[in-house]
Amino acid sequence: ERDFSLENQRKLKTDLFIFQETMYIEENTYKNDMISLIFLLKEKVGALAKVLRIFEEKSINLTHIESRPSRVNKDEYEFFINLDRRNTPLLTDIIKTLRNEMGVTVHELSRKKKKDAVPWFPRTIQELDRFANQILSYGAELDADHPGFKDPVYRARRKEFADMAYNYRHGQPIPKVTYTEEEKKTWGTVFRELKTLYPTHACYEHNHVFPLLEKYCGYQEDNIPQLEDVSKFLQTCTGFRLRPVAGLLSSRDFLAGLAFRVFHSTQYIRHGSKPMYTPEPDVCHELLGHVPLFADISFAQFSQEIGLASLGAPDEYIEKLATVYWFTVEFGLCKEGDTIKAYGAGLLSSFGELQYCLSDKPEIQSLNLEKTAVQKYPVTEFQPVYYVAESYLKRNSCFHKSFCLFSFRRFASSIPRPFSIRYDPYTQRIEVLDNAKQLKNLAESISSEMGTLCSALKKIE
Ligand SMILES: [Fe+2]
Repeated sequence: ERDFSLENQRKLKTDLFIFQETMYIEENTYKNDMISLIFLLKEKVGALAKVLRIFEEKSINLTHIESRPSRVNKDEYEFFINLDRRNTPLLTDIIKTLRNEMGVTVHELSRKKKKDAVPWFPRTIQELDRFANQILSYGAELDADHPGFKDPVYRARRKEFADMAYNYRHGQPIPKVTYTEEEKKTWGTVFRELKTLYPTHACYEHNHVFPLLEKYCGYQEDNIPQLEDVSKFLQTCTGFRLRPVAGLLSSRDFLAGLAFRVFHSTQYIRHGSKPMYTPEPDVCHELLGHVPLFADISFAQFSQEIGLASLGAPDEYIEKLATVYWFTVEFGLCKEGDTIKAYGAGLLSSFGELQYCLSDKPEIQSLNLEKTAVQKYPVTEFQPVYYVAESYLKRNSCFHKSFCLFSFRRFASSIPRPFSIRYDPYTQRIEVLDNAKQLKNLAESISSEMGTLCSALKKIE
């Protein structure tokens, strides 16, 4: 009898990860004169012979072959083979034949040069658990100029939050926090002040969602909303979810979360001595700045696409993507008719900067991703430059429905990556589209959606 308990599912998933990681082994772990491949075959009489014949036809001699039952599919076998490096020129054709004509999944283990190795990236939403212990600084370590640096009570509290996030695993409810009176007071000040600016300064989407958060998620002056409630709300809107984070993540890890529609969120609040200032993201920044926009379908899509573009991308492109994220998701402005509004979370959670960004002091430029992606920026002071996303639509619609998503796709297509990927929301896995079988599945799913679209169009005629 099969055991579907959570623990067992996790174990099963772990087995899958081990397999997937073997896909990118660096060249120097193998002998230099050798090429290694793994391919998967369905258990069938003559299946292996058919594959071997292809090598034989090209007069390629295999120096080593071994097999094992696949850990992914029960009815498949994995074959590991070695061949002489001199055969490299012929190999591309052979792999093409295997993939396209026979639908065989092939993993090249050592043919690629080291410099082309693709950085590891999570393939399943559960694998985001790995980032929990890859944080750059633990939440309790504060810089000397942090308002809470000399406050032992605040530091102990930060440690509590950091530990909670550190031990969090995907699938668990986010622990609810009983915030202290002082913490609630800090929240209240920030909430009250910012709320006076939103009607005039925030974009349409933010103002549209905010009352819903007040109604369903406990957004009130005297209550700090719980991440778990907010995460559930977002899941019903766009499938976005929150996960607590113990400290600062690297750009690569943070962006990877977005690919799964997961937003790493802090849960602690800034120091009470300076309610209008925080040198780092805190729960006010996440809940007031980020959350409302993640409830918007177009914005959620845009955010996820930044994440998807980052998976396996070279380091220099991660930096560019993080910069694009900075000038859009964090500090973006957009045009609504003739007026400019803020949609960036860094602006929507800062009383001072929200006013400053729409004044005549900063420099305002049109969003142009190629240019924006290399713009330098300060992290501890108001931005000297903001980028405005133009809207092609005349009415009150924000940027993503028109400008941002299209231009981002064009930008993302310039990122070198030797394969295409796609997120499967049913399995919550990233699919690497590198064989005929997967492409066929994708075609079928698009075809089914097209059928639905055509039939719906006919009905509303
Ligand atoms: Fe942020």
